[in-house]
Amino acid sequence: MRIAIAAILALAAAAASAAEPSDEGRRIFAKVCSACHANDLSEAPQVKQPEMWAPRLSKGREALYRSALEGFVGPTGEEMPPRGGRPELTDSEVRAAVDYIVSLTQQKGTTP
Ligand code: HEC
Repeated sequence: MRIAIAAILALAAAAASAAEPSDEGRRIFAKVCSACHANDLSEAPQVKQPEMWAPRLSKGREALYRSALEGFVGPTGEEMPPRGGRPELTDSEVRAAVDYIVSLTQQKGTTP
């Protein structure tokens, strides 16, 4: 029992340090990205469905940054607009929002 608890604590600590969701990422996500990525009416991959993200996470975080910055049309045929359609967002804001999405959706073994 003690060993199991230690293992769980170790996993939790590893997960916390793997991707630290910043307040900035959370804020940008809530303001911009959630319109599609936390909206059942959208065809975009939803943050509450990690299985929709597993193949994307496996491309690596740099690829996800690029998709978010430059736009991306992939398997769904739907468009991820460059910077979520907000050209005024800085690169670091977009990357922070991607980090936040990854932190919400990561599953063990698929984190880039
Ligand atoms: C207008 C709707 C919309 C908004 C707003 C939006 N997205 Fe997306 N996003 C999509 C769709 C649709 C896809 C899936 C595209 C596909 O695979 O065909 C997607 C895919 C992605 C992917 C996966 C790309 C890949 O390579 O698989 C990332 C990362 C992403 N979005 C990040 C963001 C971030 C960060 C924001 C906010 C700054 C954001 N999105 C805002 C619609 C949107």
